[in-house]
Amino acid sequence: MQKVGIVIGSVRPNRRSMQVAAWLKRQLQKETKVQYDLIDLKKVDLPMMAEPHLPVTGLYTQQKTRAWSALIQQYDGFIFVFPQYNWGYPAVLKNAIDYLAKEWQGKPVSLVTFGGHGGTQAQLAMKMVIAGLKMQALPVNLQIDLLPADSLAVAERKLNSYNWQVELLSECFDKFFKQQRIK
Ligand SMILES: Cc1cc2nc3c(=O)[nH]c(=O)nc-3n(C[C@H](O)[C@H](O)[C@H](O)COP(=O)(O)O)c2cc1C
Repeated sequence: MQKVGIVIGSVRPNRRSMQVAAWLKRQLQKETKVQYDLIDLKKVDLPMMAEPHLPVTGLYTQQKTRAWSALIQQYDGFIFVFPQYNWGYPAVLKNAIDYLAKEWQGKPVSLVTFGGHGGTQAQLAMKMVIAGLKMQALPVNLQIDLLPADSLAVAERKLNSYNWQVELLSECFDKFFKQQRIK
């Protein structure tokens, strides 16, 4: 069974990303054989880049890096869920990505951003990063309009209006993995 990791890309207290990621996982798992797991960067708890060697060498000196590498190697694809911070992505997500190299390469990835205007700029900025990493950018990427002041209930209602896009994303992963099996 293929496994997709939903990386929760912000770590603030009361972060909205938890709600978005939990909703996404619920919707994705409705009609698929793919396993979707949450990967919480708060639990992974990496320090700011603390490795002396280039990540591409795979020479990791810290236990936390080795554990992070082992975790990411288990997955066949990823969804990065993150808010827009000052027209970019949260530093914690970039830091976690930068720790590794080959673990990401060639794997399919979709971006799910949120913010006042769907996190458009954050998504654009991350597209450059995933191209640099030589990941396979999937054509379905969500930009979710959420306001910081939205209550949990209001946000849930807004999230549910994107369910049809999550269906497309699920189909997209299914097709990608099917294609991979044929090759
Ligand atoms: C440091 C910071 C910068 C932000 N910058 C933007 C921004 O540029 N555009 C935007 O639409 N929202 C911005 N916001 C609002 C966030 O997108 C919104 O609060 C979101 O819920 C944050 O996600 P989080 O709760 O998971 O951290 C910013 C929030 C923070 C904390």
